[in-house]
Parts: sequence; structure tokens; C-alpha cells
Amino acid sequence: MKQVFGVFGDPIGHSLSPAMHNAAFSALGMDCIYHAFRVKPEKLEKAILGAEAMGFGGLNLTVPLKEKALKLDCIRPDPLAERIGAVNTVVFGKNGEITGYNTDGLGAKQALREAAVEIAGSKIVVAGAGGAARAIAFQLAANGAEITIINRTAERAVELAKDVSAIAAISENIRGRGLSGLKALLQDADVLINTTTLGMHPNTDTAITTAENLHPDLAVFDIVYNPLETRLLREAKAAGAKTVSGVLMLVYQGAEAFKLWTGIEPPVELMKKTVLEALQ
Ligand code: ATR
Repeated sequence: MKQVFGVFGDPIGHSLSPAMHNAAFSALGMDCIYHAFRVKPEKLEKAILGAEAMGFGGLNLTVPLKEKALKLDCIRPDPLAERIGAVNTVVFGKNGEITGYNTDGLGAKQALREAAVEIAGSKIVVAGAGGAARAIAFQLAANGAEITIINRTAERAVELAKDVSAIAAISENIRGRGLSGLKALLQDADVLINTTTLGMHPNTDTAITTAENLHPDLAVFDIVYNPLETRLLREAKAAGAKTVSGVLMLVYQGAEAFKLWTGIEPPVELMKKTVLEALQ
């Protein structure tokens, strides 16, 4: 019998995860199917327990369920998900245990690695202080980056920097601040990562910064993947900077989830191709 996997969220209609994972299952000859389910936060626990009872192979969680999942009695979060404060991957154990992981940070790390962007010792500016910024900042700090978090609401950036500092080897390497003085900050930076919603469909003409603040030695990674080429990535190209697409993070967070569920290395190139085709 086919084993079912799924993503829970609300809204969920535009999720690219079913296409990406079904392509992987099919290429590997696995008798599995991945489906999107609309689940409201107040029904999340019932839905997860129901999936476990029905023998689901694993789950992804997306907006607005990731933070809520951490607080459910039925889920035991792994230490990284606990620190990040959000669960995006649920693994069902053999004896009924349900574990919550967060693969978003790992996805970002793999995306940078594929683009040959150095993390250890690099000066990385993370724009935004929401859930995605948390996952990325914790991961990159653990990999030895020097991180400045910048955010419209400066206090959120300072707060996140404080949380991340607690796990970093050298806590002075993590700072939080507002958006002013961005040009000077970027002059001295190696990588800029946008985790804000700026540039995301339908507000495609917005960006955290423009070409005059960027430079050719910078790598610019926008985790927004719809549209494929965001305003920020266009500005980065105009400045001669290296660009890293958000599609890579989407694919690698999915690939990490796939590995947690199945123990099998998924075909990431095929997953990437599938996502790119769906976004064309
Ligand atoms: P997620 O959990 O997906 O990261 P979020 O928690 O809603 O999403 O965070 C969105 C981020 O985009 C925040 O850092 C937000 O800044 P504030 O903390 O000041 O709200 C940022 N953001 C959203 N719209 C923005 C805008 N117009 N200008 C600058 N930053 C913006």
C-alpha cells in the first residue's frame, strides 16, 4: 500500500512541496505519495495524531503552524527546533513517538554551499528577524559566521541577536540593529541574506536595498523565490554581486526533511528542476 506524506498549512494551495517530493519518490521508485492538507492551527494536534494513526510516512508544517507545533504535547522537538522555536518537519517513530525538526537553517546552509559561498569566518548580514531569520541565524552562527541581523523593527533584531549569541562560540560576533547605515555595513560584508517578505509576489518591486549599496565581492541570497528573480537579485546583478536563489533553500530544506523521513538521499537536481518548472 502506498505510504502517504504531507504538508499541513493554511493557506496551502500554492505549495511546491507536493510536486518536489512526488518527483523524488517517483524517480527513486518508492511507492509513496505526498499531498497538501489545509489544517487550521486549532486542529493541528488532532491532524498530526490522525496522520500518525493512519501510518503517514512524515509531515512538513508551514505557515501558520510551525511555532504552534513546538508547543504541542504530542511532539518532542529536537534541540535545534527548540532553539529556533519552530518545527517544519515531523518524523513518526516506530513506537509512536513524534519528533519535530527544523530543516530551514540547514536548507539555507546547503544553498550557500552549493553556490560556493563560504560561511565560516564570513561577515553575513541577515535582513529580517522573523521565523526564517531565526532558523538561518542559528544555523550560520553554529557554522562560525559573524552575523549582523538588521530589521525594520530594530528591537526584534537585537532580541534575536541575543538569543543566537547564547549558542555562538564568540558571542560578540552576533549583533542586531535597525536598517539605517546599511551601505557602510554592506561595504564590509561578504554575504547579504534577505529573509524579509520584501520583493515577494505581489509586491515584486520592493527590495531591502538597491545596487548602489552592494558591491562585486558580495554574495546576495534572497530566500524569496516567487518571483524567481526578485528585485533584490536584479539589484545584486547590476552591482556585479554573486546571486543565490531562494529556490535552493526550498529544495534543500525539503531534501533534509526527505532524509529524516526515509534515510535516503533524494535526487536534489530533479527536485530543483521540478520546482523551477512549476515557477516558470
Ligand atoms: P517569517 O516568519 O516568514 O520570517 P515574519 O515573522 O512575518 O515572517 O517576518 C517578516 C520579516 O519581514 C520581519 O523581519 C519584518 O520586519 P518587522 O519585524 O519590522 O515587521 C520584515 N518586513 C516585512 N515587511 C517589511 C517592509 N515593508 N520593510 C522592511 N521589513 C519588512
